[in-house]
Amino acid sequence: MDRNEEIITLLKMYNQHHIIKLLDKLNEKQKQNLLEQISNIDLHQVMELYDNTKKEIEIKENKIESIQYLDKEKLTKMEQDKFRELGEKVIVSAQYAVVTMAGGQGTRLGHTGPKGTFKLDVYGKGKYLFEILAENLKEANKKYNTIIPWYIMTSKENNDETQEFLEKNNYFGYEKKHVMLFKQGELPLIDENGKLLIGNNLKIKEASNGNGGVFASLRTSGMLSDMKERGIKWVFIGGVDNAILKMVDVILLGMAICKNVQIASKSVVKANAHEKVGVFCKMNGHPKVIEYSELPEKMAEEVDDNGELKFSESHIMCNLFTIEAIEKISKEPLIYHSAFKKNSYIDENCKEIIPDKPNSYKFEAFIFDSFELFDDIAILRGKREDDFAPVKNKEGVDSPKTAKELYEKYWERQK
Ligand code: UTP
Repeated sequence: MDRNEEIITLLKMYNQHHIIKLLDKLNEKQKQNLLEQISNIDLHQVMELYDNTKKEIEIKENKIESIQYLDKEKLTKMEQDKFRELGEKVIVSAQYAVVTMAGGQGTRLGHTGPKGTFKLDVYGKGKYLFEILAENLKEANKKYNTIIPWYIMTSKENNDETQEFLEKNNYFGYEKKHVMLFKQGELPLIDENGKLLIGNNLKIKEASNGNGGVFASLRTSGMLSDMKERGIKWVFIGGVDNAILKMVDVILLGMAICKNVQIASKSVVKANAHEKVGVFCKMNGHPKVIEYSELPEKMAEEVDDNGELKFSESHIMCNLFTIEAIEKISKEPLIYHSAFKKNSYIDENCKEIIPDKPNSYKFEAFIFDSFELFDDIAILRGKREDDFAPVKNKEGVDSPKTAKELYEKYWERQK
């Protein structure tokens, strides 16, 4: 059996007859392109993900407990000095790298183009999100007399545009040889009947596999090896869309080293018991971020002896990992979550169908699902006004308007 026949057999096995029919209608070049793409897709995995969407969610007897954290505000002078000293040592000895995850689609913001190219209307002139991140890193470089390697995760879809934008803007003054772009993984979109969607370009429609894909992509793209060659020991991984994200927090780093853990995360306290955010907890003895929808109402409202919410620490995509932790996670299978979304496709007659309601599943892994692979992580409670100015929605909460206000107020206080 030749390679093409093997692929056709697989397509039959996984009930993808619509693709076989389509192949008959394509010219040789189109046919080879499509077959080549399919040969790189793990059909077994995709069908397993699809089957999971049909399964009832298993109600396990999960033991959910609150998790320990330290409040940055309440650290003693001695603790602060100790953490700072430990953290600074890593940074000045060039053992620290930063990863920015910029492979998202930013659908809620509705900006055309990669999210990092969005200009936040600050101080009249405005600053791009990538510019804000570059400025923050440059400031840390100056402070610690080093150059922190900056890895940027893009998607297949937005990689070229991101690269062009950064080139055009001269990497916002960051030394080009220390900025590395790498692409994240993708997974096919699949319809309600388990059929892979075909796009206008006569290829299987794929979408980014979520920010949890960062670990495997770091390894397969060679970035993890690059980090090792540079002698990196700790890696900060954050999003592109928090205008006051602290990518180089020596207290967070020092705390992780002092506690001898492989992961540290910054949290901010929940605005109220029912705020729709994921919160840290321990589930069956392992650290975890539990979605608001999965936290029983009674638990969400529970308070401790000091009258504070027991499940109060929300995850703000501000995480630190040892290089060993990244390596370990990158080799574990990811937990995928599915979202049912609207996606256009072409039918067997090559006619484009634009659905008016959700028609297909997108699979995404979340970065915080990696926490449960460890016995413990260190959590540092930051302050919303110092650490969290997200740009998520076009309007209302977590929008450019709220982020601009938070950004300007934050920098006003630093004067
Ligand atoms: P979000 O989950 O908020 O997604 O990403 P998003 O793509 O920015 O926005 P919506 O949901 O489509 O409106 C949090 C961070 O993770 C990155 C994003 O770029 C952002 O920095 N991300 C998300 C990726 O890098 N890849 C992904 O596949 C998803």
